[in-house]
Amino acid sequence: MKEHPDAPPGQNVHEYDGILEYDNMLPRWWLTTFFLCISFAGGYWIYYHTFDKGLLPSEEYAEVVAERDAKAAAEMLAAGEATDELLLALSKNQASINQGKELFVTNCVTCHAEGGKGATGPNLTDNFVLHGAKPTDTYNTIKNGFLAKQMPAWGKQLGEGKVRAATAYVLSLRGSNVAGGKEPQGEAASQ
Ligand code: HEC
Repeated sequence: MKEHPDAPPGQNVHEYDGILEYDNMLPRWWLTTFFLCISFAGGYWIYYHTFDKGLLPSEEYAEVVAERDAKAAAEMLAAGEATDELLLALSKNQASINQGKELFVTNCVTCHAEGGKGATGPNLTDNFVLHGAKPTDTYNTIKNGFLAKQMPAWGKQLGEGKVRAATAYVLSLRGSNVAGGKEPQGEAASQ
């Protein structure tokens, strides 16, 4: 940097390939905005990351999705008839899968083992079925049982909504082929 004969007095000048650049002060409004941005970023970091006060956009999104799922699940669990379409939609709804999983842990793991990989009861994570592959088949099996084959009927004990939620969870397991599962029983499910 040097004083240049062509520059206004007191101005530093850079010269590159014959082009003169003055060392201008940044405008005050620009600097103010710049420092405000920095302090905003600092405040944001402390609020969201250091003290974990607010919800980050991703968390907010997850909450909205969960709320939407829960609402859809509540409607489907209470809806008129348990059709294949309805049960299939439920099996893709995280809220009802979660509810079904809880029910499964309480009522079903004694025979179907953790995660449905099978023990006395068949493996529910392979692609083979004893009593039909349609969502309504699974639903009817859970609701009415096969008492002669040691599968209890859950309709009365759990009630309609919970039977549907358990069905949703069981359907969500099919084809997941959990490691160490019991050998396949029944027929290959085409879906
Ligand atoms: C007392 C043991 C026992 C309990 C508890 C039990 N099951 Fe079963 N489950 C069985 C047996 C055994 C079978 C196979 C019946 C057969 O051989 O026909 C079966 C079959 C099934 C099937 C049909 C699988 C297929 O291949 O078609 C589903 C679905 C099922 N159970 C879900 C459940 C759910 C959900 C629960 C809990 C709400 C549950 N079971 C609790 C023993 C049990």
